[in-house]
Amino acid sequence: MVPLYRSLMLFILLKCIFPEMDGFLSRASGSTIDWQNLCYSEIEIIARAGGDVILPVNRLQTGAFTWRYDSYFSKLAETEPGEKIWNIEEPFTGRLSSTENGSLIITNVTTKDHRSYYEWPEVLWPDCIQRYHLQVYNHFPQKDPIVRRKDSDILLWYFCVSVIEISVGEGRDVILPVPEGTIFVWRFDNGYQYRIFAKTKSDGIIWDIKEPFTGRLSSTENGSLIITNVTMKDPPTYLKWSGWPECIHKYFLRVYKPVKAEDILIHHNVTGMGTCNITLTCAVAQPEVTVSWDETNQIGTEVEGDTLHIYNVVTNVTYSCTARNPISRASRSINPWDLCYKGAEPEGPRPATVAPFSENALEENQIMKDQGVPPPDLGKI
Ligand SMILES: *[C@@H]1O[C@H](CO)[C@@H](O)[C@H](O)[C@H]1NC(C)=O
Ligand SMILES: *[C@@H]1O[C@H](CO)[C@@H](O)[C@H](O)[C@H]1NC(C)=O
Ligand SMILES: *[C@@H]1O[C@H](CO)[C@@H](O)[C@H](O)[C@H]1NC(C)=O
Ligand SMILES: *[C@@H]1O[C@H](CO)[C@@H](O)[C@H](O)[C@H]1NC(C)=O
Ligand SMILES: *[C@@H]1O[C@H](CO)[C@@H](O)[C@H](O)[C@H]1NC(C)=O
Ligand SMILES: *[C@@H]1O[C@H](CO)[C@@H](O)[C@H](O)[C@H]1NC(C)=O
Ligand SMILES: *[C@@H]1O[C@H](CO)[C@@H](O)[C@H](O)[C@H]1NC(C)=O
Repeated sequence: MVPLYRSLMLFILLKCIFPEMDGFLSRASGSTIDWQNLCYSEIEIIARAGGDVILPVNRLQTGAFTWRYDSYFSKLAETEPGEKIWNIEEPFTGRLSSTENGSLIITNVTTKDHRSYYEWPEVLWPDCIQRYHLQVYNHFPQKDPIVRRKDSDILLWYFCVSVIEISVGEGRDVILPVPEGTIFVWRFDNGYQYRIFAKTKSDGIIWDIKEPFTGRLSSTENGSLIITNVTMKDPPTYLKWSGWPECIHKYFLRVYKPVKAEDILIHHNVTGMGTCNITLTCAVAQPEVTVSWDETNQIGTEVEGDTLHIYNVVTNVTYSCTARNPISRASRSINPWDLCYKGAEPEGPRPATVAPFSENALEENQIMKDQGVPPPDLGKI
């Protein structure tokens, strides 16, 4: 591509995705589309003439989905979960149906169906208008259509080089820090859209707070965003843009449950008569937790991952298993002597030891910079 042409494309695209740059509206036959309400990715469907295609909906809902097409945004039908469909317009009569979740099926597509379609929510917050680009070819080689979500590569070029990853414990507060700038527009990604949910200013003012964040947001003195009481259900990806020509900051939030000593289970298997050999296995029923045995180089022991083998248990030594995730750490100890010679059970009400959380874990978020995409080429605009 010619650099100037590419730069122009970038500029237009950024306008579409970040219309705060200034108003950017398109009007057609009474319908108005504010580009801010378009989902950031479009769904591309490539099919063979004569085949059937499904325009999949993005979300499950009980009410109706409204379908439109072309740049005039003409209505073509309405669907509802449970394979219901009505208000089918020419030239689609006889060729439309609906799936269990309300997705639209177009049967026997022809090259005339090769156009843009929209699923147009009645309430645009927090939803967005999904655009589908249907391409129909007479000689498309395969029977099944290709359906793919096309993220804008061009948008990706505008992300800052580093992604800011933040690990935080469930129920804690998190700060999304800002570098310099004056006004910050905050968006979250729920998988198919980036929507604005708040704005902050470098003097600590916050405004335009949207669901589901009402009551949970504040700003630091320099405009960094504080989200209180984070939960596993919070969206993981956030974007912050200060304005042209700054790059777009991406934050990736990882929310973890703190590990507790009670969550650690130690299984044992004793073999041997007279002398005692024992195998201890440590496990935590929680995702993204790693376990390790603290005694790795003692004589007569052997560690394989979460398993500890102890040969000829003769001494009265305690071994402990530590479980950790990025925000917490906990240990549980066990005395194999007791297991070998007293038949004690380790899973009972034995005292568990809880190590203090590492200094910066829960008190302060751990911020880690990752290498992201290469820097955008901003020079040409
Ligand atoms: C709805 O169904 C279609 C096809 O049956 C599927 O591709 C799509 O992912 C479903 N949407 C949701 C939100 O489950
Ligand atoms: C599909 O469409 C073509 C052209 O519109 C028509 O000739 C053909 O009969 C249709 N096939 C079916 C199965 O409806
Ligand atoms: C703004 O405050 C946050 C958190 O208090 C800090 O991490 C960040 O570096 C500050 N930014 C500037 C430009 O001082
Ligand atoms: C934090 O969120 C959880 C779940 O959303 C809620 O049950 C709890 O009461 C909240 N805690 C505070 C202090 O707001
Ligand atoms: C205990 O170890 C023995 C010998 O290695 C093995 O045959 C047995 O299956 C193990 N039992 C359990 C519960 O792992
Ligand atoms: C215990 O382990 C030692 C060292 O590997 C081995 O020599 C011995 O035979 C084992 N005893 C039993 C009962 O398995
Ligand atoms: C094991 O060690 C503990 C504490 O060090 C001690 O109280 C206990 O008597 C010892 N048991 C045996 C059988 O040596």
